[in-house]
Amino acid sequence: MIKGDQLYEGKAKKVFTTDDPELLIVSYKDDATAFNGLKHGTIAGKGVINNKMSNSLMRYLEARGVPTHFVEELNDRETLVKKVEIVPLEVIIRNISAGSFAKNYGVEEGRVFASPTIEFSYKNDDLGDPLINEYHALALELATPEELETIRKYAFMVNDELKKFWSSCGVTLVDFKLEFGRLADGSIVLADEISPDTCRLWDSETGKKLDKDRFRRDLGGVEDAYQEVMQRLEENL
Ligand code: TMP
Ligand code: ASP
Repeated sequence: MIKGDQLYEGKAKKVFTTDDPELLIVSYKDDATAFNGLKHGTIAGKGVINNKMSNSLMRYLEARGVPTHFVEELNDRETLVKKVEIVPLEVIIRNISAGSFAKNYGVEEGRVFASPTIEFSYKNDDLGDPLINEYHALALELATPEELETIRKYAFMVNDELKKFWSSCGVTLVDFKLEFGRLADGSIVLADEISPDTCRLWDSETGKKLDKDRFRRDLGGVEDAYQEVMQRLEENL
């Protein structure tokens, strides 16, 4: 596989073309941002952890019926993925109140929901990724009704599988953000990443935060938390 030009540089990853028009290389950086890019920093070793964790979880999900963009891990930071057209929605599933949910609805963090919630944000940095509902997504033609149905189905499948998996690691899956893409044939697959940048992961015993909230909220021990949660994953996969 020949690595070609850089197509795109995001906040946490770079994307390169390859000699196959249907495949891309994703390269994970140690850069971290929060609050729509207002806060910048570096989390040493994050790129390696997020690459490996995301790939492990995508393989796990593929084996359980969720199609993903994952093709092959190339090295510590780089992965070969199927080229997709990203559906410009951030799909957020929550099992326990935290973050913007706790803030927006005036509830304490840590309230366990009777059933999980799903919400969508319009992926648009200039607008600060505003929350939208499915009617808005259809009005803006971000996805078709069939695509939204498929996305919702896969998002809840991911939640069911990852809740079980993280629980076996002594980690509680509080909430997470997914992105989906369209392959050349129009089918929907899970894309982007699944990592401590995009999930809230709490130690099931102590409640200790093992995710990017340590960076967002200046809690310290950011690198250690990423390493700890990666180690738990490797011990239980
Ligand atoms: P929130 O509570 O801030 O809305 O975040 C919900 C989940 O989505 C949490 O697991 C962190 C993740 N997330 C991202 O992956 N990217 C983002 O830009 C934001 C705001 C949240
Ligand atoms: N990644 C997002 C940003 O930069 C926010 C976040 O994860 O909190 O701004």
